[in-house]
Parts: sequence; C-alpha cells; structure tokens
Amino acid sequence: TEGVLVDRYGRVVRDLRVSLTDKCNLRCTYCMPAEGLPWLAGPQLLTDDEIVRLVRLAVRRLGVTEVRFTGGEPLIRPGLVGIVAAVAALEPRPRISLTTNGLGLDRLAPALRAAGLDRVNVSLDTLDAARFARLTRRDRLADVLAGLAGATTAGLAPVKINSVLMRGVNDDEAPALLRFALAHGYELRFIEQMPLDAQHGWDRSTMITADEILAALRTGFDLAPDPAGRGAAPAETWLVDGGPARVGVIGSVTRPFCGDCDRTRVTADGQVRACLFATEESDLRGALRAGADDDELARRWRTAMWGKRAGHGIDDPAFLQPARPMSAIGG
Ligand code: GTP
Ligand code: 5AD
Ligand code: SF4
Repeated sequence: TEGVLVDRYGRVVRDLRVSLTDKCNLRCTYCMPAEGLPWLAGPQLLTDDEIVRLVRLAVRRLGVTEVRFTGGEPLIRPGLVGIVAAVAALEPRPRISLTTNGLGLDRLAPALRAAGLDRVNVSLDTLDAARFARLTRRDRLADVLAGLAGATTAGLAPVKINSVLMRGVNDDEAPALLRFALAHGYELRFIEQMPLDAQHGWDRSTMITADEILAALRTGFDLAPDPAGRGAAPAETWLVDGGPARVGVIGSVTRPFCGDCDRTRVTADGQVRACLFATEESDLRGALRAGADDDELARRWRTAMWGKRAGHGIDDPAFLQPARPMSAIGG
C-alpha cells in the first residue's frame, strides 16, 4: 500500500493544505456575510493530535513534501504553534507555510518561526484604511501591516501578499499595492475572484481578470515573464522592471492551471477534498475515530484523490459551487 497520491489523469500530489478552523476575525465581503457563518462545532474539529497524525501519514506514506495551514484564519487556532512544531519534527521534514489574514501575526511570528514555520502568505486587498474597513468590515489595516512587518523581522521568507481586486472597489490599486510590496520586499500576487463565496454572489462581470491586472500593472511597471516558470504553483510570475523582484497573478478562472495541480486538502472537520471545487469529500475523521489504522486511512485518501476531476468546471454551463464555502476550505 506504499506510494504517492495520484489521480486518474496522472497528477501526483505533493502539496497538502490543512484548514485549522473555519472561523475568521475578518468578514471580507467577497467571502462571508457580516454576521459570519454557522461555524463547525468543537467536537467536529480535528484535535491537534488528529491533525498531526494525518499530516504524518501524508508525509511519511503518501509523498507530500509541502504542508500549508489555512483557515478561516489559522492564527486563531489555539494549538497552532504546537501543531507546526510537531509537523516540523516529522521525518522527512516537509516545508511548512501558512496562509493568514495577518491579524496577530506580529505577536505570533517569532514563536511560529521557532517552531519551524518556513514562510507565510498574507491577504491584503487595499492600503486605504477606510476601504479596508469597508471591505473586511473591521478597522484593522494597521494590524495587518504590523503582521507583515513582524513576519519579515521573525525571518519568515519569502513573505507573500495575496490581493483580490474587485471592480469599483479596489481595482484602481494594483500599481500602489505593487509599489508597497516592492518597497518592503514582499512578493505580491493578484488573485482572480472565484465562485466560492458563502453568499453565492460571484459574478463573472465583476471579476477583474488576469489580463486586466497585467494591463493595470503595465501602466507603471515593465513586466517580463519569469524565466523560472511556475511549476505546479497557481501563480504565474513576472519580473518587475528587470527583476529580481517579481509579481504574480493567480488566474484561476481565465487561465486555469488544473492540469498541473499537485494539491490535496483536509478540512478542519477532517474531510479530504481532491479539489477546491470538489462537490464530494471523503471522511477521514470518521475513520480515524472508528479506530482505522494508517493503511486504511491511506487507502481512503488514495481513493478520494483518484476520483479528482480534470478541472474546476467554472466555465461549464452546469457548474455548481461546492456546498462548503472558501472560508471552510482554506483557499
Ligand atoms: P504558494 O505555495 O506560496 O504559491 O501558495 P499558494 O498561492 O498556492 O497558496 P495561498 O494559500 O496563498 O493561495 C493563494 C490563492 O490561490 C488563493 O485564492 C487560493 O484559493 C488559490 N489557490 C490555491 N490553491 C489552489 C488550487 O489548487 N486551485 C485554485 N484554483 N486556486 C488555488
Ligand atoms: N476568490 C479568490 N480568492 C479568494 N480569497 C478568499 N475568497 C476568495 C475568492 N472567492 C483569497 C483570500 C486569501 C486567499 C486564501 O484566498 O483573500 O488571500
Ligand atoms: Fe477571513 Fe479570509 Fe474570508 Fe477574509 S477571505 S473573511 S480573511 S477567511
């Protein structure tokens, strides 16, 4: 039963994304409603030990080399530092990263770095405080900026920024965000908005496309294709004004990269998702709590990945958003 996770199209999994909580301390309008969502109940959540057990299995038996912790907002999970330390102690040691909104990162970055966290991606869609407050429904821009600075100071590298541009909201800010990132040494990536919001309000006409993002950036910068290429990464990158600084675009909708996808996901309640857009999940938590051994868990995980679809299907007329929203998958 040894061997990597592979699907029927021959894609091999190397990258595991683990959601540590579906809760968040921001309320980004493109993600969730002001009142929040019906959160998972405590007993539904994997315990810290259960999470480490599944990551160990993925790393030791299933060929995973990259582990990313996501949310909701992973920094609000009480056991985060301990989970990172336990994963960093695994043999072979995976690379460990975190996707966060940055709130509290200034405080936590040193302990996370010491525990073995390698790098962070921080979400930041605007540099204007009033806009930030409207967009996230919380007046916390200064805390995110402090989090970014704290990550750099703690030695997490690279520090990447994720920005979602929305028409009529912040689509005029692409050059300013890039100037900011260049000035601080952060690697900026713009993300096309995907139909994964809890409110089901996504609309192709309000999505800012990769082409639009690149055109906006080219009003202020010279962009040349990055000779390093993208591999299995979602972001296509460009060298800015000759390099070495880079900027990325994650064009999930208009430039899909599903053919090179190397990801598997585990939700905070222990369900394997073969794809961000999967409509089916495989219940590892139930198996785990029923006493399944590693062989059985590996078998279930392999079966789940084998059934992964060729692509996300957003352009398919019959496309249906998955029931689980972005905030409960972890991006
Ligand atoms: P790096 O390893 O730093 O390149 O991380 P990443 O860009 O894969 O991860 P991050 O969590 O920062 O995600 C950035 C954006 O990419 C988010 O909007 C994610 O939803 C999106 N993303 C990540 N993985 C996938 C994927 O497998 N498919 C699609 N369509 N989007 C993805
Ligand atoms: N489409 C694209 N990106 C999204 N994010 C949240 N919701 C969406 C969406 N519907 C971003 C967050 C964060 C990353 C994990 O995904 O802003 O940066
Ligand atoms: Fe929180 Fe991320 Fe959703 Fe914003 S996009 S509300 S930071 S989970």
